[in-house]
Amino acid sequence: MIFRQLFDSTSGTYTYLLASRRGGEALIIDPVIEKVERYLQLIKELDLKLVKAVDTHLHADHITGLGALRDRTQCITVMGEMSKVDVVSMRLSEGDKLTIEGVALDVLYTPGHTDDSYSFLMRDRVFTGDTLLIRGTGRTDFQNGDARAQYDSIFNKLLKLPDDTMIFPAHDYKGETVSTVGEEKAFNPRLQVKSIDEYVELMGKLNLPNPKMMDVAVPANMRVGFAQEAIAQRGWAVTAADAIRLVGQPNVALIDLREKTEREKHGVIPGSLHAPYPDLAVNVRPGGMLHELAASTGKRMLFYCAFGERSAMAVQAAQDAGLTAACHIHGGMDAWKKASGPLVR
Ligand SMILES: [Fe+2]
Repeated sequence: MIFRQLFDSTSGTYTYLLASRRGGEALIIDPVIEKVERYLQLIKELDLKLVKAVDTHLHADHITGLGALRDRTQCITVMGEMSKVDVVSMRLSEGDKLTIEGVALDVLYTPGHTDDSYSFLMRDRVFTGDTLLIRGTGRTDFQNGDARAQYDSIFNKLLKLPDDTMIFPAHDYKGETVSTVGEEKAFNPRLQVKSIDEYVELMGKLNLPNPKMMDVAVPANMRVGFAQEAIAQRGWAVTAADAIRLVGQPNVALIDLREKTEREKHGVIPGSLHAPYPDLAVNVRPGGMLHELAASTGKRMLFYCAFGERSAMAVQAAQDAGLTAACHIHGGMDAWKKASGPLVR
């Protein structure tokens, strides 16, 4: 197992790099834009392939590295379903799993610091974002923060984990690196309250100044989506309404890039092939499944995914590999559902 805790001293942010083995797939949690080069260097040194970049919530104190990492590595960007960001590749909800090769994290919805705060549990450790910090808790006075919801997330979810579960937060300002559930229960001063009302009162009295970066970071972090317009301008995009008319046409191959769990949860466009996004590079290369499909049938390849992010990157990769008939459904399954496109389960 590869596990790295990386630090941005300007914002006091911890970023986590996880992988099951050298040479394998990696995921990164809460990357900071200024540190992207450092992450990429480490990923290269450890011979890893970054496949997912995840934010625990919409950050107010730094600009996320999600967009830059996606642009540099074509990785999938991931946030929770409650997030207000314009577009990420994949959205998760409570009970889902965040997976890469050899690693599976349970998704916990832990609102309170913000209404889009999620924690990720990996067996003996939990990544708590700003919901639960070491000897502290994330502030609840902006970004739809809610001390009541935070109490519930902490006391009824995070502190219900075994006492020896390690806590890895998104921030620390005093040099602490890790704690445990048992330690925080006993020594976190914010958690020594007798009731939810006492906690709400405590959080209401903090009177903290806004983060210095807030006015820059929040708007920047809201616009993390890939520019699908650029793909559309090249004529490589089809609107969901137009795509509905292409279902069942013999000269069109619909290709679903999503993961198995997304297909099960949200349904599938009738007649589509499943070719998961992480295998795309292999599939579009000469000899690859999609390359051969296009070459042997002459079919127009119509990629789709959840929000059009993965499929926009797939179109670019397919076009680069010489598959000039590749296009995608702009806005993905989200747009498809809004256009009342047919689905099978
Ligand atoms: Fe935060």
